[in-house]
This record gives sequence, C-alpha cells and structure tokens, in this order.
Amino acid sequence: MTTCSAPGKVYLFGEHAVVYGEPAVPCAVERRARVTVEPREDGQVRVDAADLSLDGFTVTWGGDVDERPAVDAPASLVEAATAYIDAAVAQARDAADAPEAGFDIAVESDIPLGAGLGSSAAVVVAGIDAATRALDAPLSADEVARRAYEAEFAVQDGQASRADTFCSAMGGAVRVEGDDARTIDAPPLPFVVGYDGGGGDTGELVAGVRALREEHGFAADTVETVGDLTREGERLLAAADADSEPSEELLSALGELMDFDHGLLAALGVSARSLDAMVWAARDAGAAGAKLTGAGGGGCVVALDPTPGTERALEFAAECERSFRAELATEGVRVEAP
Ligand code: PMV
Repeated sequence: MTTCSAPGKVYLFGEHAVVYGEPAVPCAVERRARVTVEPREDGQVRVDAADLSLDGFTVTWGGDVDERPAVDAPASLVEAATAYIDAAVAQARDAADAPEAGFDIAVESDIPLGAGLGSSAAVVVAGIDAATRALDAPLSADEVARRAYEAEFAVQDGQASRADTFCSAMGGAVRVEGDDARTIDAPPLPFVVGYDGGGGDTGELVAGVRALREEHGFAADTVETVGDLTREGERLLAAADADSEPSEELLSALGELMDFDHGLLAALGVSARSLDAMVWAARDAGAAGAKLTGAGGGGCVVALDPTPGTERALEFAAECERSFRAELATEGVRVEAP
C-alpha cells in the first residue's frame, strides 16, 4: 500500500491573463489530497473517495465490472472525479509499462472541489505518484507534473494550463508563462482562504474574458495590466528573503497588488457578489490584500494575513461557507506511507 499526498494552490497573481501569454504566480498551499494505492491482480480499478467535498462514493471499473456509484452527489461531480482518476491510472500504467495493472485506490482530500484551489490536479498528481511507486516505477516530481498535465489535458479536452499540476507536484511558489513553468523563491506567505461553497464555470468565464478582450481595446489593456502587476509582484518576491517570515512592508506591497488584481478581474467580469463580499470582509479585518483565486464566478478568495483576524471575519461573513488558513506549501507531492 502506497500513500502520496499533493497540495492544492491559490493564484497570488495572474489568472485569466495567463491564458493570453502573460505570466502568473500560483502558490501551493497546505491543503492536500491523499491518494492510497494498492495494486490488484485482476486489472480492475476500485476507487473509494471518502471526502471530495461530497458525501463520498465507491466505484469500480475495468475488467467485466462497470459499476456506477450510488451516491448522494451530483452525477457530474462524480463523473469528473472518476475521469481524473481514470486518466491518472492510464498515465501510471504507461509510465510503469504495465498496461494491465489494476488498483484499489482511496482518495481523501481537504481541498474544496471545483473552487479554484486545484483539487483535481492534486488528486491526479498524488495518484500518479502513488500508483507508479506501487508498481515499483517511481518518477521524478518533474515527470509526475508532466504526466499529470497530460492527464488533465485529456480530461479537459485540451483546456488545461500547466499551472495547477506543476504547482501541486513541485510545491512552493511557481511562475507560469505559456508552456514555461518553473519554481521561484518566496517567503512563507500567510494565506487565508474564504470559500463561498460554490464555484464558477471555468470555460464560460474564460470565454467571457476572451470576448471582452476582442471587443474592447481597454479590456485587452486590462489583461496586459494584470501581466504588469504580476511582474511587479515577481520582483517583490525575488527581492525578499525566502527563508524568513515576510516583513510587514512586503505583505503590504503584495497585498496592494492583490487588491489591484481583484479590481481588474472584476472589471473583466469574473468576480461575483459573494467573492466581492468576502474580499471586503478580509480587507475590513485588516488583511494586507485580498482577491479571488482561479477562474472566479464563485468559489474562493485568498487574502494575506498573519493574524487570526481575516479567518475569523470570513467565518462570520454571510457569503462565506468556510474559511481556513492555508500556508504556502513548500513541499509538493510527497510520500506519506511507502
Ligand atoms: O479555477 P482554476 O484553478 O482552474 O483556474 C483557472 C485559471 C484560468 O487562468 C482562468 C484558466 C487557465 O487555464 O489558466
């Protein structure tokens, strides 16, 4: 039995603009998906998903079995979850040159599903790592990231960016620009996440920004401005000491850029009433800055606050279903039990 875990992520800067070749800085956060894998002889895949922010389900497929899960959860969510696991299994079989390999897989995750925190990427990354290790064919984190991207690409019909999978596999802060993804130094940033209990439709939101950008020069300028502020944020991170707690000045400068980024994303039409309300609750509570994270339309906001103030204020905000501290995860995918 092999267990691996991988972190979710928030965008410090740059979502949406990254689609048009601007840089983005996602950061891995200490909320993990854990995947336990045990090879089985009969070629079947059996998955127990204890906590995917759903009620949990069990599903078996492969061989002669194709049992649909009996769960009290939206079919689309269950199908999406099994599709990601299926794609991760295909990558592990290919990497280990074991096309007939079967698995018992248990998934546990404390990353809200479909809310911009990279839950599917974390499951795919931890799944590929655990399954290849269980088959005695361990991969480097880079290779796990590459294969996890291929898996997401297959499930999402080519609509995947490398950000989520690379960030989850490598951990820490990451810089993504086009197909180039690399880790960058960052101090331990005090992220706080607010979750409205929902999520937006990434495809629709991306299409909305694309249409605005094509229609209005000022919308195209807005996207470029997101790129400019991301580069400014990168300069701040590069000048900081990655091994010490971030200074108040650094947090306040990063926070100012996050606030600006949220305003530009709102101008591009991807915020939501709930996200704006959570952003303001965080700012009022003394956060250095706050913004939506991911595609938007609903889901999560991320704020910077080393004190308990923002987490507590979000807990009491009507629009917020759950809030939690999610420190920068310096470690990406890792073995929990060999
Ligand atoms: O919601 P998420 O975590 O899948 O992030 C989407 C980020 C976008 O920039 C809007 C789209 C993308 O593929 O980069």
